[in-house]
Amino acid sequence: MRGAAIDADGQFLLEVHLNGIAEDDGAVGEIVRGLLSTPRTVSPKYFYDSVGCGLYEQITELDEYYQARTEIGILVDAVDGIMARHRPTELVELGSGSSRKTRVLLDALERTGTGHRYMPFDVSEEALREAGAALVAAYPSLEVRAIAGDFDHQLREVPRPHAGTRRMVAFLGGTIGNIAPERRGMFLGDVAAMLGSGDTLLMGVDLDTNPERTRRAYDDAMGVTAAFNRNILAVLNREAGGNFVADDFVHVAVWNAADGRVEMRLRAQRAMRVRLERAGIELDLAAGEEILTEICGKFNRALLAEVYADAGLELIEWHTDADERFAVSLARRAR
Ligand code: AVJ
Repeated sequence: MRGAAIDADGQFLLEVHLNGIAEDDGAVGEIVRGLLSTPRTVSPKYFYDSVGCGLYEQITELDEYYQARTEIGILVDAVDGIMARHRPTELVELGSGSSRKTRVLLDALERTGTGHRYMPFDVSEEALREAGAALVAAYPSLEVRAIAGDFDHQLREVPRPHAGTRRMVAFLGGTIGNIAPERRGMFLGDVAAMLGSGDTLLMGVDLDTNPERTRRAYDDAMGVTAAFNRNILAVLNREAGGNFVADDFVHVAVWNAADGRVEMRLRAQRAMRVRLERAGIELDLAAGEEILTEICGKFNRALLAEVYADAGLELIEWHTDADERFAVSLARRAR
């Protein structure tokens, strides 16, 4: 269902650029290319079916997972100043999920009296529907224009900025850390193209490089992250007609010091042959072989300034918690 506006009641409009979470047969090809590359890789976008979205919400409540609550704390403290300085009239949110953090931003926009349009972009159509319904009920004068898509293919579906609006693009949660460094420039270039002069990017980044503490955020004692990681196999089975057995894999989270990131992997517990029906291929995995499902990259101010500059962006504000475990940055197009 490409490019169709499928739901319009005036206040809430949803455009779907995905078929489920997969875009036609493109998803199968993408899954196969990832599984055949070295290391074997699956895009983290496949985490977020309805089971995965629910597990992610649980992760944000875990003691070990400091990121979500730290970022909200930073936003709560900084948001009124940010909105007063930049006065956006519309908010675009990339990877909006349940839009829970969005309320902190929308409440501040209500206080400044500027914002009137919210454009959430997410890979989960279901999360967009639920969040959209809740937001239009809570903010009666807000226009919600949602786009279901993924960062690799549909970012260009976000309308170009136009004169008379001031846009803030929010990309929270530290999700930039999930994008491989070699694809980050392209992604941020697409984001920069969404900004006109006077527009801003509000982006959260994870700073914590304490190896064991940050690793534990991805390997919690209750096993919620393990369930979240293994659920990606159920999604692959559905998307590619696979026969992965989730119980044959263990969840692994490692601190990769050389690249400054945590990596989540699924390790095969035995040798196996997996069939991907819709791709017409079989895959032999050795015992102990791993599939990389997510990288969680860490930043600091200097690194982020450099990453922004490479994409034609300029770091203009930096807000952190007292322990400097997480930061919320603001950037604009470099002139
Ligand atoms: C909020 C999507 C960036 O990498 O911390 C949480 C997702 N993965 N636990 C992150 C996630 C495992 C999360 N993002």
